[in-house]
Amino acid sequence: MSHATTPPAPASAGTKDRSGLLARVTDVRSVYGGGEQDFTAVDGVSLELGEGEILGLAGESGCGKTTLGNTLAMIATPPLYVLSGTLEIDDEVIDLSTLSAADVKRHRPYRGSTVSMLPQGAMNAISPTVRIRSLVHDVMRAHRTGVSKDEALDRARDRLKMLEMPVRVLDSYAHQLSGGMKQRVITVISTLLDPRLLIADEPTSALDVSSQRMLVEMLLAMVEQRIMSGVVFVTHDLPVLSQVSDKLAIMNAGSIVEMGPTRQLVEDPQHPYTKKLLSSVLDPTAETRERGRDRAQGGAPVPGPSTEEAR
Ligand SMILES: Nc1ncnc2c1ncn2[C@@H]1O[C@H](COP(=O)(O)OP(=O)(O)O)[C@@H](O)[C@H]1O
Ligand SMILES: [Mg+2]
Repeated sequence: MSHATTPPAPASAGTKDRSGLLARVTDVRSVYGGGEQDFTAVDGVSLELGEGEILGLAGESGCGKTTLGNTLAMIATPPLYVLSGTLEIDDEVIDLSTLSAADVKRHRPYRGSTVSMLPQGAMNAISPTVRIRSLVHDVMRAHRTGVSKDEALDRARDRLKMLEMPVRVLDSYAHQLSGGMKQRVITVISTLLDPRLLIADEPTSALDVSSQRMLVEMLLAMVEQRIMSGVVFVTHDLPVLSQVSDKLAIMNAGSIVEMGPTRQLVEDPQHPYTKKLLSSVLDPTAETRERGRDRAQGGAPVPGPSTEEAR
């Protein structure tokens, strides 16, 4: 179900409108609590995102990327508590803290419409027994009560056309679609309400290289067409991020250690952690070569690239 041809190279980031600030995030602190001890997963994070920008959030597994994403998307639920933090967007300052049930209720109007979350592993969470069209209605109705099935489908159809995706996917069951197509479809569905900001959590991590590229292409087209005005693209995959992001934020142990324009950060990293992270991905290490040699000698197999299209 994937396209036969290689998609063109991602559009140049230079054509984007960078006139204004889209979002400012200030001093986010999020903890996992309820047990013997609280664990601080996000420790005083502040960020800025311009209109039309894609901000790449990178860092090793466990550094707090998903926790930060859930906090910004206002979907934190116990045991995750947001102690402090504000999100300034469209001249509105939203208090992100979730210290009471009332806070969680206060966030409801912003969820899905102001900020939308594409959760990690979302494509695998789609039930194999429902058609994509029912999913479209369910997702839209969750945020905009009273939307009719026809309205929801019309909107989805328009979106798919806009993004040059086959409209017939609406009649498919999830299991009939390739991983790459599923991920693109779920991305389209999660943005049907035109969020100002999309938070995409590891959207490419389970995809093979050509599906990764198609998803990145689609995200760039979506920003260009102003379906959303900005993206926080979360991944541990720095090579993907350096292709798609205007700006990079490097996270380590709950804090942003360095942030700046992608090119500057990749070419001239300042923080020792950024240097370490970059050298570990951009250098074909001795360790990889050794594992290759092990395999040649009958050792443990080296994990190959994802084979998600080949089921
Ligand atoms: N439900 C939870 N309860 C307690 N600790 C958690 C929970 N979820 C995540 N954590 C911890 O919070 C830290 C950050 O996790 P996460 O935000 O998922 O990191 P990342 O997305 O960067 O891999 C990790 O140390 C993880 O173990
Ligand atoms: Mg994560």
